[in-house]
Amino acid sequence: MADQIEEVKGKTDIVSLIGEYIEIKKAGRNFKAVCPFHSEKTPSFMISPELQIYKCFGCQEKGDVFAFLQAYEGMEFGEALKFLADRAGVKLQSISRTDTSEKEKIIEINNLTSRFYQYLLFNSSFGKIALNYLLKERGLKPTTIKEFGLGFSPDSPLALKKFLIEKKKFDPRDIEKAGIGYPKGGYFIDRLRGRVIFPLLDHRGNTVGFAGRVLPGPNENETAKYINTPETPVYHKGNLLYGLNLTRGNIKKKDIAIVVEGELDAISSWQAGVKNVVAIKGSAITEDQVRLLSRFCKKVILCLDSDIAGDAAARRGVITAQDQGLEVKVARLKEYKDPDDAARKNPGGYKESLINAVGIWDFLIDSVFERFNAKSGEGKAKISKEVVPVLSLISDKIVQDHYVNLVAKRLDVSNEAVLEQIQKQGKKEEKDEGSKVPFSERKERRELLEERLLSLGFRYDPEILLKKTVSDLVKTPLSKRILDEYLTYSQKNTKFNLSKFGESLPKELFDGFAWMVLSEELEIGGPDEIPIETGAVLHGLKILSLKEKLLGLSENIKKFEGEEEKEKLLKVKEEFKNLTEKLHSLEEKAKQGIILDDDA
Ligand code: CTP
Ligand code: MN
Repeated sequence: MADQIEEVKGKTDIVSLIGEYIEIKKAGRNFKAVCPFHSEKTPSFMISPELQIYKCFGCQEKGDVFAFLQAYEGMEFGEALKFLADRAGVKLQSISRTDTSEKEKIIEINNLTSRFYQYLLFNSSFGKIALNYLLKERGLKPTTIKEFGLGFSPDSPLALKKFLIEKKKFDPRDIEKAGIGYPKGGYFIDRLRGRVIFPLLDHRGNTVGFAGRVLPGPNENETAKYINTPETPVYHKGNLLYGLNLTRGNIKKKDIAIVVEGELDAISSWQAGVKNVVAIKGSAITEDQVRLLSRFCKKVILCLDSDIAGDAAARRGVITAQDQGLEVKVARLKEYKDPDDAARKNPGGYKESLINAVGIWDFLIDSVFERFNAKSGEGKAKISKEVVPVLSLISDKIVQDHYVNLVAKRLDVSNEAVLEQIQKQGKKEEKDEGSKVPFSERKERRELLEERLLSLGFRYDPEILLKKTVSDLVKTPLSKRILDEYLTYSQKNTKFNLSKFGESLPKELFDGFAWMVLSEELEIGGPDEIPIETGAVLHGLKILSLKEKLLGLSENIKKFEGEEEKEKLLKVKEEFKNLTEKLHSLEEKAKQGIILDDDA
């Protein structure tokens, strides 16, 4: 197996793999991109073709081709291996069923259970009521029902047991792990029994869980309208975008996603011809959902309950989306209860309201004015209290100014008054944020210079690091250890190979090494800058070394003065003077730009 992993890795190029998922740009010997694992505007995600690794200097996410697929696509290692083997045309020796991971097993159980529920909806006597409900009361066409794989779970404690355990031979414990139900007595209780089933598929088409809706009837109000699979190793409510497996192509093509609340909102929209829709299943849109969505489009139209304006969590979600670079608009449905209602009763009008969606700021501001009376003093105070936090969220000053004018006009007050409130708000927020912990600690100057020296050496001129005058300048532990490894390596290998050397390094040094060869901060402009840069770094290190020595000497001077050790004092003072002269001449040379010598 280890051989096969190496074979697959050897036949996969990390640059072209990652390039299939995100936009990458060449940067010197490496490639860079806006990191897909955290939100940022300037790229700090680097890929090294030589080391076949990636690393983000913002969020520290890093790894090889397998790690990328695991992190980006949520694949298991085994899945990533299969995926890459297929891609590279490597035939894997068959993996026995006991080798499949927990996640894969859960997905297999879910997929089969989903087919079972679908079968029962169309082919069983108890499925009839549910099918009728979907066709007549919810106005769905049979083809739509099939496209979304809807099903029915009978209210019988034996149905799943007969199918999954007796026929398909699954371990009841695994079925329980999948969140489908639990054994009780001689039975197996289905959590979603008696409900219409909406299989929940991730964007790659894996059934990760289920939602079940109660059927109308005398007991309808005694239980929750919807029940969902609990959190399992494969189902995380906050990650799922319902419908994305079907609609991702259209979302990408149109560069717009319509975001609705519930499963039936998505299904009815789809049936009415709105094919670029996804549902967030009730709660506020999460950062994970925004990140997933932004892989497919740059614009979203939210078509949610109007409580997004009033609900803090919902508003935060919207701002998150905007912050991650999505252009967010909001559609309003007028007299209709929800997208499902609108799409069925008036598909044309529904589409029109999507087209007429307004920008998020207009929407949020409008909704404040709708709730209070802008004519009365009391109303103005209430509007101000709610509208100022919204205005202060607008980071683009020109856009902010536009809305300040608008709000001032609507309140019939001066622009200055509104601006002043925003400034006050800004001060308050600064205070609230308190002291933010910086991403990485500030590095000492020596550490930075040494890393830069090694970085230049490994990238452009490894020979230079072998000179004693150069290697003697390196002192901080990480750089020193890496350099020592390199000196040993160079005795065994006549030619330097960056990736081979990387592989030969002890694990704990690899990260530091990767930083040296990947960091864009350490990148230079062009080949003719190599000697100039190297010279400058060496020069800086020499000056630093001298200053460190001088500091040590001046402490000795103090010590010997105290102890009245005249002879020693004289010697140290002499040395101090010599070194000071040397330092001055070095600093003088730097001023004249003569910094290429390496034996000062
Ligand atoms: N929801 C849920 N669990 C609940 C209630 C709601 O997961 N107990 C999710 C469902 O995805 C639901 C969405 O929140 O579709 C919106 O809830 P709601 O507006 O109450 O229901 P509708 O979508 O209008 O449901 P229906 O049209 O089937 O009546
Ligand atoms: Mn509804």
